[in-house]
Amino acid sequence: MDTLAATTFEYQTGFANAFESEAIPGALPVGRNSPQKVPFGLYAEQLSGTAFTASQDYNQRSWLYRIRPSVRQGRHSRIDNGLLRTAPILEAECPPDQMRWDPPPIGDGAGDFVDGLSTLVAAGDLAAQAGMAAHVYCAGRSMEDRFFCNADGEMLIVPQQGRLLIATEFGAILAAPGEIAVVQRGIRLRVELPDGPSRGYVCENYGASFRLPERGPIGANGLANPRDFRAPVARYEDREGEFEIVTKFQGNLWAAPTDRSPLDVVAWHGNYVPYKYDLSAFNAIGTVSFDHPDPSIYTVLTSPSDLSGTANVDFVIFPPRWMVAEDTFRPPWFHRNVMSEFMGLVSGKYDAKEEGFVPGGASLHNAMAPHGPDSDANAKAIAAELAPQYLADTMAFMFETRYVCRPTAFALETPARQRDYHDCWQDLPRAFDPNLGS
Ligand SMILES: [Fe+2]
Repeated sequence: MDTLAATTFEYQTGFANAFESEAIPGALPVGRNSPQKVPFGLYAEQLSGTAFTASQDYNQRSWLYRIRPSVRQGRHSRIDNGLLRTAPILEAECPPDQMRWDPPPIGDGAGDFVDGLSTLVAAGDLAAQAGMAAHVYCAGRSMEDRFFCNADGEMLIVPQQGRLLIATEFGAILAAPGEIAVVQRGIRLRVELPDGPSRGYVCENYGASFRLPERGPIGANGLANPRDFRAPVARYEDREGEFEIVTKFQGNLWAAPTDRSPLDVVAWHGNYVPYKYDLSAFNAIGTVSFDHPDPSIYTVLTSPSDLSGTANVDFVIFPPRWMVAEDTFRPPWFHRNVMSEFMGLVSGKYDAKEEGFVPGGASLHNAMAPHGPDSDANAKAIAAELAPQYLADTMAFMFETRYVCRPTAFALETPARQRDYHDCWQDLPRAFDPNLGS
């Protein structure tokens, strides 16, 4: 097959810009979105990511100029959902316990990226376009004659091991561990594995598209800066043969045959465009005096809900950074939260849990579930000499949502679930002594 592995990747920079790109000079119509005759005999097709009448602040659409319109494909047939699940999860009761999982063994993924998706939790309700799901993927082979389209949600992909080459209708994105890729709802893609079997996480966002958070008093710079986002350039496939488009729609997988590659877009323009972001470009901001701000200070992208300041889902990272706070308990504090927190670890160690929470693993602290540093991390933090300290080897992340994350039956029953997770706090010692003084 036509592989992209040897391609030199080009990108456009910015976030939600009015991008445009053409793989053949002159293919992009000038001055018209839908001229009577599109250059080179292409079809014009609009892809709307928001309602036509959505506010200009977040209205998203793109115009695609393609060899054949998307509508030319066969009928859908149901295929097996595998371990992919969708909110609301009703197949299992949701215990209020904290939960943690070991990483899935990389050799477990014999299938492709779509086959390899396993849902750990899902929150909210897809039909109401509210909430999200957290999946892990373990993929063993590239997609070749198969394409995927998620009509249910936007996918924020977090590679943990192995790069992903994500060929989309808009062009190709190469995403390595330490980077993320976002492919919006409805965009067709094919995932190749240039490094062989690969593993990572996916946040499937049922709500409003991810956007940059408001910075408030931080000002015009900091956190994730728009110029560090990368959108692809147009690249088309003119392939005919026997292909399959798998669509996730209302929680189920459906396959439709097609006789040509759906990645046949020769030119495009618009602001509904997949992108990638290198997490090392994140400008982390923290205290330079005492205490530490709420973890929202590490928000890379947010999907707002209709309640101001209360995210449908936030994507938050805990990157390498200096810890300099004086007279402060420096790890993430003991905490209960009305929001629900799903965490993963791309690499290194997380400062609240130096053991047990390992790269490729995951944890869940649901609404009001108490959590915080384990006993060892607590003891170390209290005894620490508070010199400036650089947390070098770490990249943890969180999908934080206003909706309770309901685990799937698979998540509850898999041997990868650490059933003794709760024990890590049970030997937190009593240090209280009313005669001790302050
Ligand atoms: Fe928390």
